[in-house]
Amino acid sequence: MSNKAARNLFIFGSLFFFVIFLGLTFDTMKQIDGRAPEVTKEVDDGKQVWHKYDCIGCHTILGNGSYFAPDMTKVVEKKPAGYLKKFLMDPKSTNKNATMPKLGLSSKEADDMIAFLTWISKIDTNGWPPKPILAQAAGVGGAQQTRGQQVYQSQGCSNCHSINGIGGTSGPDLTKVGAAGKDAEWHMKHLKDPNSLVPGSAMPPYPSLSDSDLKELAAYLVSLK
Ligand code: HEC
Ligand code: HEC
Repeated sequence: MSNKAARNLFIFGSLFFFVIFLGLTFDTMKQIDGRAPEVTKEVDDGKQVWHKYDCIGCHTILGNGSYFAPDMTKVVEKKPAGYLKKFLMDPKSTNKNATMPKLGLSSKEADDMIAFLTWISKIDTNGWPPKPILAQAAGVGGAQQTRGQQVYQSQGCSNCHSINGIGGTSGPDLTKVGAAGKDAEWHMKHLKDPNSLVPGSAMPPYPSLSDSDLKELAAYLVSLK
């Protein structure tokens, strides 16, 4: 190759890739705005609360932070706002084994925090963080599941409860809940309105479960011994 050809190759080659680089940059910039919902005043205030109490000293969010405590990116998809508010203001009020300290958030700070976490959860993160595999959360997998186990799984009970070591720890372990002497009637009433039996309960109510689903779920709970 002559010197001239080499120079042309360098100049036009660089130009060519620079144009591609610019095109991709503009394309990315255009997509970024659509990847997160609008920031409201509550979301902004919630972010200040996140910094004020140094939540990042224990938790991660979008991959940033410490690995001492669970990731918070999608927490609002697993726990309803009513539960989160109680927990944030006093972790031991929902779970006496909670190790998160009572940080002293006010009611407004807790609401703002939940708005911020809700905003974070809506950011398109391409599926990150990966969901844990909970296919067996209800005991056995697939077609062998009883109706009660299916309801347990479809309602996301395992986000808070564990059975045989699979599931969350926000609520009591249910592995042997049937041995505690509470009958199906108690469970049905508790599921519909936890507060009516356990005053101050942080468990969300399930008023929209059909009577037959409630019955099957309660029978499943009673069978856990
Ligand atoms: C000293 C460490 C620490 C700090 C600081 C901390 N957390 Fe936690 N957090 C934990 C631990 C540990 C857990 C796991 C549950 C437990 O054992 O209490 C947790 C759990 C949670 C949960 C999930 C509760 C559940 O049942 O799923 C939320 C939500 C939460 N923290 C939010 C926050 C927010 C918001 C802040 C800042 C205002 C914060 N945390 C500050 C340690 C911390
Ligand atoms: C957001 C967290 C959360 C979710 C989701 C949740 N629970 Fe709970 N659950 C709790 C908490 C907290 C308690 C303790 C307070 C109480 O007994 O009401 C509890 C208590 C219970 C108890 C009583 C356990 C005992 O030892 O007395 C049962 C049974 C139960 N839950 C079943 C379920 C079922 C079934 C589902 C799904 C339909 C479910 N829970 C969904 C948090 C949750």
